Formats: sequence, structure tokens, C-alpha cells
Amino acid sequence: MASFFNPQSGPDGRLDAAAFHRNHEPIWNVIEPYLRGLTGDVLEAGSGTGQHIVEFARKAPHLAWWPSDPSEAHLRSIAAWADGAKLPNLRPARKIDLSDPDWQWGDAARARPHALSAIFCANVIHIAPWTVAEGLFAGAGRHLKTGGLLFLYGPFKRDGQHTAPSNEAFDASLRASDPRWGVRDMADVATLATRQGLRRIDCVAMPANNFTLIFQRAE
Ligand SMILES: C[S@@+](CC[C@H](N)C(=O)[O-])C[C@H]1O[C@@H](n2cnc3c(N)ncnc32)[C@H](O)[C@@H]1O
Repeated sequence: MASFFNPQSGPDGRLDAAAFHRNHEPIWNVIEPYLRGLTGDVLEAGSGTGQHIVEFARKAPHLAWWPSDPSEAHLRSIAAWADGAKLPNLRPARKIDLSDPDWQWGDAARARPHALSAIFCANVIHIAPWTVAEGLFAGAGRHLKTGGLLFLYGPFKRDGQHTAPSNEAFDASLRASDPRWGVRDMADVATLATRQGLRRIDCVAMPANNFTLIFQRAE
């Protein structure tokens, strides 16, 4: 992970990822129309520094935003950004490891089945074993409301092919670092989604050869 995610650290534990400054606005432009009509709770899985969720919580005050990550350093960073932002709709970060197929979110009152309006997850499933993608979708099937949305941002292969030479090189470096990691194929991700009662409703090409895939939980 270290060589693929190297945020700069600040004195209070806050981390600053260069990619955030490049991608948060394009991501927001894609997800905002979907969020406009939602109410309730949105979970971010693998929040990393916490910069995306702070930015999105500021821009969508009508939603309650729940950050999460399994890394203690990242949980500290999320807390530091949250302290600075003082947003009433930003909830405390939770330690969630998506490789636990039974992961839970929120407090006891909220962590009931089918209570989340949306899940956002950026740049996680290629820098982690496939069990993390499986756990993400298992949780989406378990926690999303009917009609709830999963936004999945990152690089993906399409029909078994890389969409750019730079993604192919990135994939090779991921696999060299850990053979369980790698750029995922959209079709494999869609298969996971179908198994958990979700279907892909949108696929948006993003800058730097990334995509935002949007899934919705059906009845
Ligand atoms: C490349 S960083 C992306 C962080 C942030 N989403 C972003 O786009 O800046 C990958 C993140 O996935 C998290 N992660 C790794 N394994 C995970 C797991 N099993 N469950 C949940 N998150 C995980 C890491 O701690 C890290 O914060």
C-alpha cells in the first residue's frame, strides 16, 4: 500500500493525498446529481485521508456522512480533517475492514439491515485482495436501502482489456507488490454486484483513465 498511496503528513496526523486535489471535483460532478434527491446516511468505505468525505459532507449538508477505514493512521487523519471542518453532518470515523464479510457501520440504532442511502468507495478494490471487493458488495447488499446507491471510483479493465497503457503498467506494479492486488475487470465487479442484488446503472469515464461505476440495489 505504502508505495501506491503516499499522502503528505501534517503535525496533527492529517494526511494530504495529491490525487484528492485532482479527482474530488470530477467525482463530485458525477455523484452530485444522484445525491441531490437522497436523504439519510452515506458511508464511505476506505476513506484514506478523509479529504473526500469532508469535501462531500460540506457540499451535501442534507446527508449524514460516515467515514471509515481499517488503518489507525487513516482514522487519525480523518478525525483531524473532521475537527478542522466542524461539519454537523459528518459523523465520527468507524474502523471498517471490508475483508470481514459481516462488517457493520454506524451506531447500534442505525446499523440495522438496509438503512444506508449510499456507499462511496474510491481507489480501494485494486489495492487490496479480491475478498475486499467481495466484502464491499456483500455489505452493499446487506446495508443499502432498496434503491440505494454504490459509487465505485478507480481504474478498471473493460472486457478483459486495459483501457490505457498507463493502467496496464500500474496493474503490473500492483501485482508485483502483492499478487492478490490488481486492476479489476468491470465484468467481474458486475458479477459480484448481481450476486448481492445490485445492478450497474451507470459507468462514467473519468480523467486519468479512471471510471466511476454506479450500482443500485434493486427490490
Ligand atoms: C489508495 S487508498 C484510497 C483512499 C481514499 N479512498 C482516496 O481515494 O484517497 C486505499 C484505502 O483503502 C483502505 N483499505 C485497504 N484495505 C482495506 C480493507 N480491507 N477494508 C477497507 N479499506 C481498506 C486503505 O486503508 C486506504 O485508506
